[in-house]
Amino acid sequence: MEAPHVPVMLDEVLDYLAPAVSRPGALAVDATLGAGGHTEALLKAHPDLMVIGIDRDPTALTLASERLRDFGDRFVAARAVYDEIPDVLAAHGRERADAILFDLGVSSMQLDRPERGFAYAQDAPLDMRMNPDDHLTAEAVVNGYEVSELVRILREYGEEKFAPRVAKAIAAARSQAPITSSRRLADLVRDAIPAAARRTGGNPAKRTFQALRIEVNGEIDTWRAALPAALDALAPGGRVVVMSYHSLEDRIAKHELVRRSVSTTPAGLPVDLPGTEPTFRILTRKAHRPTQTELDRNPRSAPARLRAAERVATSTGEGGDS
Ligand SMILES: C[S@@+](CC[C@H](N)C(=O)[O-])C[C@H]1O[C@@H](n2cnc3c(N)ncnc32)[C@H](O)[C@@H]1O
Repeated sequence: MEAPHVPVMLDEVLDYLAPAVSRPGALAVDATLGAGGHTEALLKAHPDLMVIGIDRDPTALTLASERLRDFGDRFVAARAVYDEIPDVLAAHGRERADAILFDLGVSSMQLDRPERGFAYAQDAPLDMRMNPDDHLTAEAVVNGYEVSELVRILREYGEEKFAPRVAKAIAAARSQAPITSSRRLADLVRDAIPAAARRTGGNPAKRTFQALRIEVNGEIDTWRAALPAALDALAPGGRVVVMSYHSLEDRIAKHELVRRSVSTTPAGLPVDLPGTEPTFRILTRKAHRPTQTELDRNPRSAPARLRAAERVATSTGEGGDS
């Protein structure tokens, strides 16, 4: 069977997590299980490791659980949103994890299923929910949001230079008839973008679809809440790897990791005051990008940026960050 999703920067993920997940009885959380590619490689490489795999998409959980069946009780699937990591750990009788992996965004399995409505290249209802039990759909955003709100999400989440033009075109179209199909939306976005700008940068609807997906799934707000909670749940010596595909997500990761990797002792004092020492050590001076070999093999990896950090034990022997 063809792989449903090619795991991105797999070697780097394995290398960065190895010191933490090779400890006896180690527990890792794969916060974005998807097709389970990273988890499968981790379980194969570390025979004593247990992984809890989280996803909000029930279809992903079913497929990944099937793929990982041979690992028995070394793998557990949890349907949750990744800002619930502490609750998921508690539900399994654990407080801390040795490693946490975030591979943010959408999986190829979601993109390649037309009925999910993520793809601009296929005609489908405008849905885009990762969790089909959630209420907000792309159709509701496109037909219900004020033009100013549409402009904001197109700019912030889609990095769309022509956000006002696209938002106005959406407003004009929906005043004729509700926009319910991805084809109609993709066509009107293309027509709203100046011809000269259409010639570069791939399908002009790509940025609008990305913005809608991020809005529908509340991805940025969830990520802002999820990373601090995850870092607090790491055991001393534990490691986190974050792969993001959007500059906003990467900025949030960078900021939070830097914040925890510097001392909060007031400047000028010769030593760190107790309780102000850095609690994390950043392992990636700059974000890593996929190699050319990986890009040739898997063009969808192109936007990925990887950052990694390790929780250090504080002078009290704990990793407290509160
Ligand atoms: C890029 S894929 C992960 C691919 C996976 N690493 C692999 O190798 O197959 C991202 C997954 O995270 C899930 N996801 C996105 N946001 C989530 C959230 N806030 N909570 C839980 N899962 C989320 C998506 O449903 C998707 O299946």
